[in-house]
Amino acid sequence: MPNALAPIGVFDSGVGGLSVLRALARVLPYDDLLYVGDTARIPYGSKPLAMVRAFADEIAAYLLARGVKALVVACNTASAAALPALADRLGVPVWGVVEPGVAAALAATRGGTVGVLGTLGTIGANAYQAPLERAGVAVWARACPLFVPIVEEGVSDGEIAALVAHHYLRDRPKDVDTVILGCTHYPALIHTLRAAFGPDVVLVDSAETTAAVVARGLAAVGLAAPPRTRSVSHLVTGDLATYRHTATALGWLEGDVTPLALSELGASAGVVPSANLAAEAVR
Ligand code: DGL
Repeated sequence: MPNALAPIGVFDSGVGGLSVLRALARVLPYDDLLYVGDTARIPYGSKPLAMVRAFADEIAAYLLARGVKALVVACNTASAAALPALADRLGVPVWGVVEPGVAAALAATRGGTVGVLGTLGTIGANAYQAPLERAGVAVWARACPLFVPIVEEGVSDGEIAALVAHHYLRDRPKDVDTVILGCTHYPALIHTLRAAFGPDVVLVDSAETTAAVVARGLAAVGLAAPPRTRSVSHLVTGDLATYRHTATALGWLEGDVTPLALSELGASAGVVPSANLAAEAVR
């Protein structure tokens, strides 16, 4: 049985999931947070979904071995690739970022046409399009693979970002009134995207909605931490200085940053019953 004092595990391919970590830190002020930034293997978005699912399984197993009480998949690509199958096998509560984003967009759209921006993996898996269309809204979806390296490079606000945004968004339908930022890196581009879409389009950042869902979910199962001083730790598989630099530039760095070797990640395999990848449909 998970323990309320144990940390919440959170992961993404890089700094993008820090948008979710920051929102979690706000709504859960007493919870220890253990964040894995898998920058050695970024980007997830242009890799095959089965590979991303294997990464997600490995990180989940590692975090479980570290004793987390719950897991937040702070990555749309990994959520699209690994959920809900991963959640079924883990034995602790698991939340992704896709469902909260869909719910927020459905609540926000006035005219019933929603845009989705995401990685090649997320858009290719129809992770957002399928539930939105089932709910009866029209969907315009665009994969934006250059956005993630722009954010990781720390140039989210300048000319390069604006040019790339124009490249991806110039042919969008005029009736899109709500746009899901379907990659946890994209809130870093908020000024660029706001300028590109103009003031009337609602931009849905699922970080806040996901954090609210997690806070409610933990409280419902009696796993919210009691008042105390908490810790935030970042474990990073790639270059630490780059991670620190980008996360600080975004204003998203709280807590200590330490290295995590990929071999250490792999050593926890077996903590979670392995998925039958051949039998599982790619979701
Ligand atoms: N931030 C991640 C997402 O939400 C992954 C970006 C990437 O590694 O391509 O999809």
